[in-house]
Amino acid sequence: MLHTLGMRILLIASTAREHAIADALSRSPQHPEIISICGSENPGLKRLSSALHTGNILDFDFVLQIAKRTKPDFAVIGPDDPIGAGLADFLKEENIPSVAPLQALARIESSKAFTRNLLKKYRIGLSPQFKVFTKEEPKELYNFIDQELHGAYVVKFDALKGGKGVKVSGEHLTSIDDGVTYALECIRGCGQVVVEEKLTGIEFSLLSFVSGTQVVDMPAVQDHKRAYDGDTGPNTGGMGTYTDADHSLPFLSAQDLQSARDINRAVAAALLKECKQPYKGILYGGFMAVKDGVRVIEFNARLGDPEALNILPLLSSDFVEICRAIIDGSLEPSLVTFDHKATVCKYITPESYPVSKDQCGKEVTFPKIPGNARLFYGDVREDMDGMLHLGGSRTAGIVGIGASIAEAESIAQKLCEQVQGPVRFRSDIGTKALIEKRVEMMRKLRNE
Ligand code: AMP
Ligand code: GLY
Repeated sequence: MLHTLGMRILLIASTAREHAIADALSRSPQHPEIISICGSENPGLKRLSSALHTGNILDFDFVLQIAKRTKPDFAVIGPDDPIGAGLADFLKEENIPSVAPLQALARIESSKAFTRNLLKKYRIGLSPQFKVFTKEEPKELYNFIDQELHGAYVVKFDALKGGKGVKVSGEHLTSIDDGVTYALECIRGCGQVVVEEKLTGIEFSLLSFVSGTQVVDMPAVQDHKRAYDGDTGPNTGGMGTYTDADHSLPFLSAQDLQSARDINRAVAAALLKECKQPYKGILYGGFMAVKDGVRVIEFNARLGDPEALNILPLLSSDFVEICRAIIDGSLEPSLVTFDHKATVCKYITPESYPVSKDQCGKEVTFPKIPGNARLFYGDVREDMDGMLHLGGSRTAGIVGIGASIAEAESIAQKLCEQVQGPVRFRSDIGTKALIEKRVEMMRKLRNE
């Protein structure tokens, strides 16, 4: 049984997302004790946890040893890898419930073929045209891309690959032959591949708290995956994100947002039917607003990074209570309230991220963070003197919170400009110019 007094939470962590999770948990009036396990000594987690254990979070025996010793009331599993590898099942064996789905349900993220087939089987619709190939059939692959998709295609490796398994025609692949070659490589690598229609539109995400068929949404959010200003350069884990005060996004219609909400609900219900077990955790719907509505790009089984950095600071109700309700099956909308404010998150990264790790170990200094902003640490190490040093990946997310996106952007931008060290960030995320560009593109696409 869960108990209120002396609440203890095990947090499985890897990045700034879990710093934001720990921050939201520690704001709870239940004052939980947080025990974190992370690959590195994240300075944010260190401050918020009663104990921070460093080690391999995919070494389940190591995680279990700590869990058995500390006897948490429940676990929150942040990253995709341990969720996909079944850590929630492993902890369940020890009677430790998790805010994260069991492995079979986590296929919604770990297998793109499972997801496309689930949406098809339960007639959820709004998928692009797709086909799953399991055999090395170059001729069939060529014909499908050529005749059905008219050469505009996306090839998806069917397993977790740190966001690097998806290749898009016209971006990573130039010809149909390139697509066939990569699809064959995927089949050899993981047994099957999803080949689908390339959509044109604007991406956005809608994340929901889920317990079986109980689904409560968070504010919609838009990520920026490209490394450099103007959406150029290589893909990254996400350079920044924004949310709006009305919890929608400036380029979405009310109907677009409703479609995304409906899809998350339909998917939660389909997962219950298909796996005969309730999904308990976060369902992250990745969508594209297109010419005639919304399409599903992908699902994740966790909070996003940076999405969590925008969303969780806005949560004004008790996150611990929400976690307990997810586990107990008593989740309801009245438990979840978000401030009606806009947020803009900009990630500070090493100068050469994601191309090389040349600045690894170099010093970085952050300005004092005011009340209308947040700083969440990612790949950064604190030395004995309290100085911070860069790792090779995203360093820290700086979040501005304001009445409008413009106000939140200006707060985040000013703080980012004061960071000292060999770092960079995207100045354009959340700016009026970029938002207007998105709104204009949507208008054109829809002939409005
Ligand atoms: P995924 O891991 O499925 O989200 O794919 C990674 C990225 O590839 C997405 O964020 C999109 O930018 C792009 N992508 C995936 N599927 C499609 C699609 N059907 N059409 C266009 N772009 C896509
Ligand atoms: N920001 C994208 C993700 O967390 O998957």
